Amino acid sequence: MPTGNASSTGKNKLETAGQGWRSRYAASLLPVFAPPPLLITRGQGCYVWDDSGNRYLDMQGGIAVNALGHAHPAIVAAIADQAATLIHDSNLLATEPQIALAEKLIQMTGGDEDTRVFFANSGTEANEAAFKLARKNSGDEGKRTRILALTHSFHGRTMGALAMTAKAALRTPFDPMPAGVDFIEPTPAALHAAIDDTVAALIVEPVQGEGGVLPLPDGFLALARELTAEHGALLIVDEVQTGMGRTGDWFGYQSAGIVPDAITLAKGLAGGVPIGAMVTFGRASTLLARGDHGSTFGGNALATRVAATVVDVIEQEGLLQNVREQSAALTRELPAALADLFGGIRGRGLMLGVALSRPVASELVAAGLLHGLILNATDPSTLRLVPPLVFGDAERSDFIAALSAARSELIE
Ligand SMILES: Cc1ncc(COP(=O)(O)O)c(C=O)c1O
Repeated sequence: MPTGNASSTGKNKLETAGQGWRSRYAASLLPVFAPPPLLITRGQGCYVWDDSGNRYLDMQGGIAVNALGHAHPAIVAAIADQAATLIHDSNLLATEPQIALAEKLIQMTGGDEDTRVFFANSGTEANEAAFKLARKNSGDEGKRTRILALTHSFHGRTMGALAMTAKAALRTPFDPMPAGVDFIEPTPAALHAAIDDTVAALIVEPVQGEGGVLPLPDGFLALARELTAEHGALLIVDEVQTGMGRTGDWFGYQSAGIVPDAITLAKGLAGGVPIGAMVTFGRASTLLARGDHGSTFGGNALATRVAATVVDVIEQEGLLQNVREQSAALTRELPAALADLFGGIRGRGLMLGVALSRPVASELVAAGLLHGLILNATDPSTLRLVPPLVFGDAERSDFIAALSAARSELIE
């Protein structure tokens, strides 16, 4: 039991040992994450600094969150201004930033007068809203009770989103799950076999992020649109990781030339300030009625103001084009940087999965830290690159040099 404040001498001793924060972390935070390797004290652009003043290039960008990098002046100014004006009021009252962001999202999705937005605070919450939307699509006789999700999917950690997440190890400790979710392979044959008039919704990620940066097979989204429409099921596209410019389009579904019934957003939407959203199209916008769903914090003035700023900066700085250019350049340069370790590349825009020829991803991540690089691995043979969308030529050249140095530390 703590007896009071640590004396300044005691605290200094811990800091001198360089382990102070590690033991404090272990003694105070629930151990659901692996022990973190670094204590990050500040960030600027695509770089962060640790408590010893070491600089790192942040190739995981808060796991596809820090769209404008760290401490972008436009975000700093928007937060300061909005905080001094209005951070939050209840959803029983309207605020201008909330309406303005909803209007922007409708415009970005190419929506029409039947498009609507619900605001939440995270990706999992956006998907909970989508789960409830699917339940409300039960049909006149209530026969639509099934939700189809894909193998390798990840939709979040709360119970509804978790029920649609493929990895059994994440789900089974928390059984029983909400009922009715079936998992299918993302193939035309599996979709044809599974879909019928008992399906309320199909949920897909255009590129599966946590599953290992796995793009949907060509033509799958178009077929999914066709078959869900035919059977009265909703097509829900989880754009939590792929949305907000990450793939080089505003949203990952757009390159397939389809209009889904709903999309979910979070991560990059407000560049690091917590927010989630569900955008509904057409008939789907009529399914949830007054009282069916809600949120205390969702759509608060601060988060929505920052999100609108992120959208403006992505437009003003031409970041969608930057994403495409940097993606192409990385794809050209990665094979040489990884040499014999290179096993292929997949994904879109600045959401790239680099396959390694040997299962040494965690060793490479550790070696990256020694060379000022924060890397992310989704499995022992896959690096996931999701840097800020402001990642430019200078950062790319730092990255390639550091990655190549990190790779040469790994001896077969
Ligand atoms: C596709 C997708 N959906 C949902 C989530 C859950 O988002 P959050 O962690 O904000 O709840 C994630 C998080 O990684 C994700 O990648």
